[in-house]
Order: sequence, then structure tokens, then C-alpha cells
Amino acid sequence: MSKKEHYDVLIIGSGAAGLSLALRLPRGIRIAVVSKRELKEGSTYYAQGGISAVLDEADSLESHIQDTLRAGAGLCDEEVVKLVVERGPENIRWLLSQGVEFTATPPTGSSGYHLTREGGHSHRRVVHAADATGKVVELSLENQARNNPDIDLFEYHIAVDLICTPRGDGNRPRRCLGAYLLDLEENRVHTIGARFVVLATGGANKAYLYTSNPDVATGDGIAMGWRAGCRVANMEFIQFHPTCLYHPNAKSFLISEAVRGEGGRLLLPDGTRFMPRYDERAELAPRDIVARAIDAEMKRLGLDCVYLDISHREPEFIQSHFPTIYQRCLELGIDITKEPIPVVPAAHYTCGGILTDRHARTDVEGLYAVGEAAYTGLHGANRMASNSLLECLVFGELAAEDMARQLEETAAEPPALPAWDESRVTDSDEEVVVSHNWDELRRFMWDYMGIVRSNKRLARAQRRINLLQHEIREYYSNFRVSNDLLELRNLADVAELIIQSAIRRRESRGLHYNKDFPWRDESQRRPTILIPEAYVPKQTG
Ligand code: FAD
Ligand code: SIN
Repeated sequence: MSKKEHYDVLIIGSGAAGLSLALRLPRGIRIAVVSKRELKEGSTYYAQGGISAVLDEADSLESHIQDTLRAGAGLCDEEVVKLVVERGPENIRWLLSQGVEFTATPPTGSSGYHLTREGGHSHRRVVHAADATGKVVELSLENQARNNPDIDLFEYHIAVDLICTPRGDGNRPRRCLGAYLLDLEENRVHTIGARFVVLATGGANKAYLYTSNPDVATGDGIAMGWRAGCRVANMEFIQFHPTCLYHPNAKSFLISEAVRGEGGRLLLPDGTRFMPRYDERAELAPRDIVARAIDAEMKRLGLDCVYLDISHREPEFIQSHFPTIYQRCLELGIDITKEPIPVVPAAHYTCGGILTDRHARTDVEGLYAVGEAAYTGLHGANRMASNSLLECLVFGELAAEDMARQLEETAAEPPALPAWDESRVTDSDEEVVVSHNWDELRRFMWDYMGIVRSNKRLARAQRRINLLQHEIREYYSNFRVSNDLLELRNLADVAELIIQSAIRRRESRGLHYNKDFPWRDESQRRPTILIPEAYVPKQTG
């Protein structure tokens, strides 16, 4: 590693949240961005539909705010919703300044861009780059970061854990001093210090057997933050995207909600449309409603999938608006201009995460969390489509502003840090333990913690996770760390957080549906906040 041992800002994660934050920090400071695979690999790169922002004169900030609150089923933090929505248009302009090009085919309205529609939005307000918005955004930000002399990039380095001051230092909250990074090419753990550390590690949706997410989405930042003493909120709200491609050779391929926004209809195998029976907004109801309706129809009729049909639109329209989806389906023998697409719901988005304030600060001093790893209060019990990339950008900006204000005050060099200690571990003797537990965890999370939950299923999940945690912790303390072991350990921690949160919510709201409490209970209208052992409350006054 030719890089330094100390940085001003260490950002773990190189998606929209991590890279936008890095690019918005003041010039002339030392910044490190870490990615456990190549820089672009993360959910951002695969985002399809687009980014929601009020860009058209016929739309309004108030309408975007109200739609977000409605989708969030009473659990959004209204002040945060306003903050994010109001900063939306300026953040889109910032992306343009970074070289992002959005689709501008007519009808463009007053914005000059083609705005698509997605579930829960009462206006066309999703700006996009055909159906590959994330790819265009990620590659533009990557290009800027690679050409920025202040930023050192650590690809193929996986953060193992945060380094913090010990607990019990008076009543002071813990301070984050850096992180241990396992270099996956050299197979060595490095110790990196920093004045500020950022968790920008994305979601935890690989905890489920079926997911739209790439392999990196193992909740590492949420688990590391939790172990370091950060409170975690709303982990029961896992969003299942209604329409992932159902095909034996398609691993995690999404069929964008924009397909429904542009007229796509959900059908049973006999061609009957079913969504109008569930909600007056039909295919454009929020995701929790559409995913549950599909799940109910699949269970009622014993189906492997349902179908999404856009073939009534002109082939030229389909090919120009959905080139990625058209091409991928064609490769698998499905011509979407002529036939419906087999689809199933899959785990897509982690609405909860590390609890942050309006500057993206966590409970641990000097530690920030941004993007899907964070819980800011924006999404409540259900995230509205295309509000996630917006949150990544806005909170990246807020965190950068907050750090810029403090950079002059904090000490230039952090204290000496303890080196990684491998004296008590050996090479693993049975890798099968890791692969077996990976499979088991993702399978029981799918079966017991999915779209429809029950008290019995929650209890079963609780028993299984207790067993796995015991085995994984023992394995972790005896054997040398590897990528798979680290990810498994993190997945087990986030799975436990999801189960604990779901057990505490004794009602059904938004994405959390429990058959034994099928109603919404207004006395439970508050976020589920879990407090870790290592938590030290901040002093007030
Ligand atoms: P990510 O983009 O997931 O990046 C996480 C980064 O953290 C990666 O660089 C990864 O390597 C790194 N990392 C993780 N753990 C470690 C570790 N231990 N050490 C080092 N590095 C680590 N949202 C929208 O708003 N609009 C859309 O159209 C949209 N479409 C989507 C389509 C798909 C298929 C998917 C999966 C998601 C979509 N979403 C969409 C959601 C949105 O893309 C994500 O919520 C968002 O991109 C998350 O960005 P992020 O920067 O927080 O994390
Ligand atoms: C999609 O294109 O359907 C994904 C949009 C999102 O998750 O916000």
C-alpha cells in the first residue's frame, strides 16, 4: 500500500454517498475512500429508475414532501423530509456539474429533462439516464474522484472494524480514531487513522436469499457502527422490490419501477390484471402494497412468479427508455416488446440503519454515516422510489459541510493506534462452516423475516440467529479473518438487528407486516431504536 497511515477523512464505501461526500469536502485535505471491490461495485451502479427531485414547474416541493410522508406510513421525520426535498434540485445541478448526463427526450416539460413516474409519486419527478441512472452517476463520480489529487483510493480493501477510544473515559462519548482494513490482495490488515471516519457502506439486503442487490450489500457499516456503540433504528423495515426478473440464469436483475410508471401492468399467468383489486393506484401504489399483493397472489394460486407487461407500448419507446432491461431480457430469450416479463419480489432496500442527526453524525464522536447504511428519518416505514439516491447526495453534502466547519478545530494527527493483533488466531480449518452459515442465514431470513411475518416465524428466526451467532463468534475469535468470514459476521449482526426490531414492533405498518398484529397501532408511531452495549450517551447542555 503506497498510501498514508493517517487521513483527515476516511470514507468507507464508494457509492453515491461516499463519493459525493469525498468530492464535496474542502480542497487541500487528505481523504481516503475505501471499497471492498472495484470502486464502482455497489448498489449505486445498478440503480435504474432515477433520482426524485422537483424540477418541473407543474410540480411542487410540498407535493414531494407529502408523497414521501404518505409512503413512509407515519414514521418519517418531517423536518428531514423537508430538508432533503428542498435540497433536491440543487443536488441534481451538482450532479450535472460533475458530468452526469440525464435523458432529455421529449416530452421534457419545463425542466428540459424527461421525468419518469414511479410508485407513490403524484407527479412525474424522477430524472434519469434511460434505465441506467446509477451507472451514469457512479462512473461520473468515479471519474472525478480518480482525478482528484486529494483523494487516495483503496480498492479491494474491506474494513474489518472501527478503532474507537475505550468506553468509560468519564462520561464522554467514544471517539472514532480510524479503522482496520484487510487488504484483499496482500491478505494483510492495515491500521488507518483519521480525524473523521464515514460509514458509506450501503445496505444489508444480502441477508436475504433473493435480492436485487450486488454481493457487497452485507450491512458491514451498520454492523461496525453497532459494535462501536452507535444506536441503530428501524431495521424491521426491509423493502422488497415488487419486480425482479424471475429466470434461472438471472442473478439479481431488477425490472425498474419506471416500467410500471410508463404503463406496465402486472398480470396473472392467464393475463388477468390484479393490482386494481388491491389499491386504487393499482401498479403505482407504493412498493409495500404492490409487493404484498404479488406475494398474496403467488401464495393464493401457488405461482412461481407473476408477469409485468409493457408490450402495448411502441417498441421504439421501450427500446429507448429501457435499453438495459430490453437487452438483458432478450439475452435470456424474452422480447419485452412482444411478451410479458416473469417477475417476483426480492429484498431491495434497508430503510433502517445507523441513527444519525441532520449533519450525518452518529453517536460516536468523529464518526458519520451516510447513504443506505444510515437512518436519517427520511424514509419512515417505507422508502418512496428514487428517494434513496437523493438522500445519498443530500446527506453527503450535509456531512461534508459539517466536517469542513470542524476541520480547523480537531487535532491534526490522531493518537497512536493499536496495531491489528493476530497472535491468538490460526488459519481456518473448516471453511465449510462459513459457507454453510451464509446459506442458512439467508434462507431462514427469507422464509421467516420476509414480506409477511408472524410471531411464530419471528421466534423461529430468533432461535436460529442465536445459534449462528454463537458459532460465528467462536469461529471469528479463533481464525484469521477473510472476506467471507467478515461479511458473514456482519450479516449475522444485521440479521439479529432486523429480528430484534421486528419483534419489538407489535403492529403492521409500511414494510413490516405481521399476521398476528395486522392493524396499525398509533400508540406505536415511533421509530424502533436499538441501543448497543458500547453506547455512551452524549451529554446535553
Ligand atoms: P452503495 O452504492 O451500495 O455503495 C456501498 C459501498 O460500500 C461500495 O463501494 C462497497 O464496496 C463499500 N463497502 C461495503 N462494505 C465495505 C467494507 N466493509 N469495507 C470497504 N468497503 C465496503 N435508488 C434510487 O434512488 N433510485 C433508483 O433508481 C434505484 N434503483 C436501484 C436499483 C437496484 C438494482 C438497487 C440494488 C438499488 C436501487 N436503488 C435506487 C437504491 C440505491 O441504489 C441505493 O440505496 C444507493 O445506491 C446506496 O448508495 P450507497 O452509496 O449508500 O451504497
Ligand atoms: C427502480 O428503478 O425500480 C428502483 C428505484 C428505487 O429503488 O428507488
